[in-house]
Amino acid sequence: MPANRPRTKILLDGGDPAETLRVKNALGFLDGQTTNPTLVAKNPEIQHLIASGHKLSRKDQENEYKHIVQQISPLVGDAGVSIEVFADLDTTAEQMLAQGEEMFSWIPNAYIKYPCTREGLRAAGESARRGIRVNVTLCFSQEQAAAVYAVTKGAREPVYVSPFLGRLDDRGENGIDVVRNIKKMYERGDGHIHVLAASLRRLEHLLASFALNAELATVPAKILEQWAAQGLPMPDENFRYEAVDAEGRSLKPIPYRDIELNAPWRSFDIRHELTTKGIERFVNDYLNTLAPAA
Ligand code: E4P
Repeated sequence: MPANRPRTKILLDGGDPAETLRVKNALGFLDGQTTNPTLVAKNPEIQHLIASGHKLSRKDQENEYKHIVQQISPLVGDAGVSIEVFADLDTTAEQMLAQGEEMFSWIPNAYIKYPCTREGLRAAGESARRGIRVNVTLCFSQEQAAAVYAVTKGAREPVYVSPFLGRLDDRGENGIDVVRNIKKMYERGDGHIHVLAASLRRLEHLLASFALNAELATVPAKILEQWAAQGLPMPDENFRYEAVDAEGRSLKPIPYRDIELNAPWRSFDIRHELTTKGIERFVNDYLNTLAPAA
């Protein structure tokens, strides 16, 4: 166990158990893992099947996903393995919940990922009431995070919310600001939500997540291996996050908003273009692994 292990729990963002083992060995620990339809579609076994012309049925896909998370589950610590329900823009909360209940039975340390939409939040709220651990994904705004707080209030287990900071950076906005703003907003809360910094693109994102005391961060293997190769550096008191993109252009700040956390969850404006686009991308990657319906 490394002496300088961060307080932020480290999760691998991936869909390949061999990679999980490799990263765990490189770090000396691994608290958890997140998966999603894009990452599962990239799994070497699934890629191999597709390359040899074997597109999968929905049932095969589900069995493959189950098999993948069952291999990952014993390799990680108490931050668990996040498994994402299949949801397109028309999927109802009831349909997501039925999948969530089934997926939650696959492994003992599952977190079920629901998208940050009205239906996803309904499913997340009901799951939390039923004792199903939840990770609300594709979160891009403070308002969305406030709605996650409100809809899961009273949850017995910690609820994760995943702000996707890299995808905000990709369109010129400072994604780290959203993590900072959500953390600040939750200071007035009851502590039932844990912030999981997601969609990290570079080591500075990880160091900034540590500096902001994000409870968790999910990180691609490449960045974790880079972090390990540098001896697991931590930000010191002089650490300053430079809000610039890969070309050195300044990212637009996202201001903090004073939001009443205890308002009814339906009162928050949770619409975000990137949430919609994110769902479309996951659906596309998922469908690409499937055989056309007979
Ligand atoms: C988190 O749970 C997601 O799987 C992930 O961080 C998405 O990151 P991306 O923007 O690199 O796809």
